[in-house]
Amino acid sequence: MPRQDHLGTPRPHHPAPPAPAPTPARPRTPEAVRARAHTALTRARARTLGLTDCLDEAELMAQHSPLMSPLAWDLAHVGNQEEIWLLRGAGGRPPLRPDLDAVYDAFRTPRADRPALPMLPPDQARAYVGEVRERALDVLAGVPLEGPRLFDGGFVFGMVAQHEQQHDETMLATHQLRRGPAVLADPPPPAADPAGLPAEVLVPEGPSTMGTDDDPWALDNERPAHRLRLPAFWLDSAPVTCGAYRQFVEDGGYRDARWWHPDGWAQVQRTGMQAPLFWRQEGGGWLRRRFGRVEPVPDGQPVLHVSWYEADAYARWAGRRLPTEAEWEKAARHDPATGRDLRYPWGDAEPGAEHANLGQRHLQPAPAGAYPAGRAPCGAGQLLGDVWEWTSSDFAPYPGFESFPYREYSQVFFGAGSGPEGYKVLRGGSFGTDPVACRATFRNWDHPVRRQIFAGFRTCRSAGAA
Ligand code: AVJ
Ligand code: FE
Repeated sequence: MPRQDHLGTPRPHHPAPPAPAPTPARPRTPEAVRARAHTALTRARARTLGLTDCLDEAELMAQHSPLMSPLAWDLAHVGNQEEIWLLRGAGGRPPLRPDLDAVYDAFRTPRADRPALPMLPPDQARAYVGEVRERALDVLAGVPLEGPRLFDGGFVFGMVAQHEQQHDETMLATHQLRRGPAVLADPPPPAADPAGLPAEVLVPEGPSTMGTDDDPWALDNERPAHRLRLPAFWLDSAPVTCGAYRQFVEDGGYRDARWWHPDGWAQVQRTGMQAPLFWRQEGGGWLRRRFGRVEPVPDGQPVLHVSWYEADAYARWAGRRLPTEAEWEKAARHDPATGRDLRYPWGDAEPGAEHANLGQRHLQPAPAGAYPAGRAPCGAGQLLGDVWEWTSSDFAPYPGFESFPYREYSQVFFGAGSGPEGYKVLRGGSFGTDPVACRATFRNWDHPVRRQIFAGFRTCRSAGAA
């Protein structure tokens, strides 16, 4: 067994050789940067309004789960962060609504307690976020988009657009928890096209780059780029499906402590969970509730709504393990033919509808084997989109990490340990993740007990170990 470093990454025995010349930076005139920021902000706002215009005031002010904020809180929190970063920060403007800062400070009030806050009712929240946006676009039109790090490449605008999209995904998870009739558009995802897709693919031993220095909108925890040399491993070519997971369930997996991390076994005992969240057994088969509809569990789709402990237990039952986040990232972006590390599994082109199930185009994962145009150089598919993938790694800073521009984005979540209070890294994004907040270097994190997020997983094994 190679020794493990702080990331749970097998430590290289030899220093890795330097990276080949990076992808030439895409040409970025100030006009192109401004247009990219404008499009990203506008796209995020259309989604935010779509997630909130479809429910009445009572539903927007209600708490649908103690794990989530009322939707009206997310709505105005997005505007308050935009006021702080784009109007006061980037624009140097005087505060518009300083009285709202305390109400929408995520660190002051935990989610469970937010219904008691003096929140703006939806109409006032919409008016507030609209006023902030009008002024933010005015700031965008006038500021330099190079020079200081906050502005360079339009970073702060990209950060605010990603923040709004992250809350939109959280709001989508609130919609999934909400009881009541379906309100969101639900077009079917594309079919599987598994020709030439083996069950697992080999990621050969050798050097690769983790993280990035040159993606202008990459967040602080994705930096700096650093070189690794990982041993070879075999990785599932697609996320673990509902059908495969059902075999674990039906084999008595939830009644057998052998497969479970002790803290995961405690979650089983405490909650009585017997299957993924939103599944229930009826007659001989399994049904799931999905955005207000009840339907048979689709065996061919990636499993969704499992905790890290469930993912870990399944992997052990299957005689395998979860990949480290370093392994996941290498599989998702390293091209051994050129030695380069790509921005996306399919290359450096922005995600399109043919590449990945991203952007809430669908309200569920596509079946395993879909999106052949999105496969990585190693041959694995669906690394981006469909389901967030739990990794074995604790959330920790890369060597040389610098908090930017605020400690509360990443820094305060580092080093929380490996127990139930700590955070495990998830990679790849889900059907509910917008492309602006998804790339092969993007890192998400959550507590290992969490199941309401759009999380699944894939498994791997060290080469030569079996
Ligand atoms: C990166 C998804 C864990 O939702 O807690 C939102 C993103 N940070 N507002 C979260 C975030 C501040 C964050 N995650
Ligand atoms: Fe936030």
